[in-house]
Amino acid sequence: MRTYLVTGGAGFIGSNYIHYMFRKYGDEIRIINVDKLTYAGNLENLRDIEDRDNYTFIRADITDSAAIREIFEKNDIDRVVHFAAESHVDRSIVNPEVFVQTNVIGTAVMLNCAKAAWELPDGTFRDGKKFLHVSTDEVYGSLPDDGESFFYETTPYDPHSPYSASKAGSDMLVKAYMDTYHFPANITNTSNNYGPYQFPEKLIPLLINNALAGKELPVYGDGKNIRDWLYVDDHAKGIDMVQEKGKLFETYNIGGHNEKRNIEIVNIVIETLLEILPESDPRRKNVSKDLIKYVTDRKGHDRRYAIAPDKIREQIGWEPETKFEDGIKKTIAWYLENEAWLANVTSGNYQNYYEEMYGNR
Ligand code: NAD
Ligand code: TYD
Repeated sequence: MRTYLVTGGAGFIGSNYIHYMFRKYGDEIRIINVDKLTYAGNLENLRDIEDRDNYTFIRADITDSAAIREIFEKNDIDRVVHFAAESHVDRSIVNPEVFVQTNVIGTAVMLNCAKAAWELPDGTFRDGKKFLHVSTDEVYGSLPDDGESFFYETTPYDPHSPYSASKAGSDMLVKAYMDTYHFPANITNTSNNYGPYQFPEKLIPLLINNALAGKELPVYGDGKNIRDWLYVDDHAKGIDMVQEKGKLFETYNIGGHNEKRNIEIVNIVIETLLEILPESDPRRKNVSKDLIKYVTDRKGHDRRYAIAPDKIREQIGWEPETKFEDGIKKTIAWYLENEAWLANVTSGNYQNYYEEMYGNR
């Protein structure tokens, strides 16, 4: 049975990926989820799969090389899928150091421990071992607002925020391992994801959460910045397809040509909420376009991100399946049905729980 080590599996994309993998492979695979449970890691995201015999959670920090080495020593890991990261641009502007620690040092630790576990005495690697590093399109910098330039795998790196700089650093380390040791890896660079279980500091869940509570909807700058939105299950599928069908040592961009200006997203979220919420729901009266508030722009705010997914489509046959109109409805419906999840993450209750449960470990 193939064993996956997933880092950051209690976060947004990692937990969706774990769900996706169990839906797809059932009992054919084993998953070990290694997560530090920062503010962004939430075991509630995995409640429905936590009792599976082929799933294990280990609380560990990826910068702790002794802990990570031990996991590789005790388990014969076949695949690493490395999600764990500090992921929010606004936090990186306020506190860049933890981004360097987790994203750069943590990735170095993961690479080093995987290399130690997988390398043979002649310097080659054991058959079938693969490391996939999950990264972002933000490493490529900002595109002009022309609708016709795109990020390709060959686009030079030009990160601007401390977040994207730290992710660029981690990508470069993976490239260095591939070039120096012929370490069996892939890198994926993906556009903005949306879907269930996303922490409400990111644009879409923040809008849903604030609108339901009748709080202001902060729009940075002129609201015309463009992001390229991808439903999280399509990303999970892309990651799996890259590991199964991609060429080792290659980078693949994952995105679905779904560009939207931020203000369009704000309007769509409000309109969809009003469409879905029944008249009888007390939250409905809070939802209104009057909540939109233009606020001071983010420092160094990248104008436009847009991925060209030609390579992954042509080489691997990946295509996004979820149209934005459907994905945003599913996402909003999920947040409406999971009010307790939202209340829990916004109140910080779950973090107190982790302190009690794991505080001394
Ligand atoms: P997230 O913030 O929701 O989750 C990150 C997870 O990593 C959390 O569970 C957290 O507890 C864990 N973590 C953080 N520091 C850790 C450490 N030192 N040791 C162990 N675990 C740690 O992030 P996400 O949105 O799910 O993003 C996952 C990955 O995908 C990241 O590498 C991110 O850069 C990349 N990515 C995200 C997006 C997006 O739109 N969210 C787009 C492209 C790429
Ligand atoms: P975000 O979800 O933080 O993702 P990223 O910065 O990684 O793309 O932000 C998406 C876009 O929305 C970005 O252009 C910043 C903007 N934004 C707002 O206008 N208001 C907000 O409250 C947030 C969180 C983001």
